[in-house]
Amino acid sequence: MADPGHGKRHVGVVGLAVMGENLALNIERNGFAPAVYNRTAARTEEFLATRGKGKDVQGTFSLEEFAASLERPRRILLMVKAGAPVDAVIEELAPHLEEGDILIDGGNSLFVDTERRSTEVADRGFQFVGMGVSGGEEGALWGPSMMPGGPAEAYEALRPILEAIAAKSEYGPCVTHIGPGGAGHYVKMIHNGIEYGDMQLIAEVSHIMRRALGMTMPAIGDVFERWNTGKLESFLIEISATVAKHIDPDTGKPLVDVILDKAEQKGTGRWTSINSYELGTPIPVIDAAVISRAISSFKPQREYASTILTGPGSDGIKLPQVPDREATIDALEDALYFSKISSYAQGMALLKVASDTYEWNLNFAEIARIWTAGCIIRARLLAPIMDAYTNDPDLANLMFDPFFTGEINASMSHVRTAIHTALDFGIPTPALSAALNYVDAYRSAVLPADLIQGLRDYFGAHTYQRRDKEGTFHTEWMEVETS
Ligand code: 6PG
Repeated sequence: MADPGHGKRHVGVVGLAVMGENLALNIERNGFAPAVYNRTAARTEEFLATRGKGKDVQGTFSLEEFAASLERPRRILLMVKAGAPVDAVIEELAPHLEEGDILIDGGNSLFVDTERRSTEVADRGFQFVGMGVSGGEEGALWGPSMMPGGPAEAYEALRPILEAIAAKSEYGPCVTHIGPGGAGHYVKMIHNGIEYGDMQLIAEVSHIMRRALGMTMPAIGDVFERWNTGKLESFLIEISATVAKHIDPDTGKPLVDVILDKAEQKGTGRWTSINSYELGTPIPVIDAAVISRAISSFKPQREYASTILTGPGSDGIKLPQVPDREATIDALEDALYFSKISSYAQGMALLKVASDTYEWNLNFAEIARIWTAGCIIRARLLAPIMDAYTNDPDLANLMFDPFFTGEINASMSHVRTAIHTALDFGIPTPALSAALNYVDAYRSAVLPADLIQGLRDYFGAHTYQRRDKEGTFHTEWMEVETS
């Protein structure tokens, strides 16, 4: 697109950390003219002198100059740290905006903050778009997956730019209007929760290969590389192969063996778990991933516990025989596939409940579609998920789709084998186990919740219902004869 005329810019970007910088360059490469602003002027100057050099990027050095440079309605992408900085920058920008201008928060904001900001910004006569952006630095530059929420009208004003800069898969540009208010950031939060689950599952199968099969990280990398040509094909498996094979130049050892085993987190996975509790819709694989990162951070305690708590391989407790390598690797491939399906079923089920609860009218097929490229969880598996929700937009659980029912049934015995192996060797598998337990619980027409109801009624007269007749019942347990 040529210059919008009267010397104005098509879009403004506030915040020139790496994501803001890369998105500005992506916008420019696709023929839209950006203006940029950063709180620290030196950062703007550096950008213009380096990566922005020779590009149609206009640097501005006050918010007044920035706002004046933009065509109307202004389209302003905020790429600042989630939390208080977003409110601060809105406050500073507001005096320079006019009715109908559009503010887009492209950070990983908590969706309830986005709901609040949507109302506050609308009250001032502007439009607010909370947009999840996935794909990391490379994605921002070459094509991210984007999850914008907010007024449909604002989306229409942004659509040409967003569709141009988005990743493209065979199913189209990886962007769609998600829904009102905080819906976009909510969907990004679920994406990140699923990302946590995927990474934990990959880590667990690698742990089984390391400890039960005695494989080196580079050998495990070869397995990931092979898996990436099949049903597990995905960005995370692809980069797992690269990371596993990387050799540390300082020590000559696989770099993963040198990296301290404490996983950090910025909070999106934890937010997903908290929200799932609020909505009463379990996502145990994501929970297991969040919990596992927390346990990993207790490194000194784990080191101490490893000297006092015994298990397979400890003094006097023999390790089992090493199982057949190829058969175990095959079982692990199916176990990972099964667990991924279980995890996605959980995440999508939570999305459905959220859509109903918050009245967002989410389109699950579209959400799966925009995850087929650009984002961190992009995977071959997303296409059949998209198909499942295209065939039945009201699908209560992904496992009820005939394709996924078949896949789950075909791989279930292998996840049991993988978990058996891990148990025999004393290897923790919280996410694999959570994936299997979710499916086992779902396929149990009868669960021991009957006993729980009896206990609740015993100590608190909480009442129960019966299987054989309608109504609400209470028993005077102390007076009843026990058999
Ligand atoms: C993405 C990523 C991105 C970020 C994660 C990391 O979709 O591009 O999810 O948003 O890398 O939020 O999260 P943690 O630091 O919590 O692992």
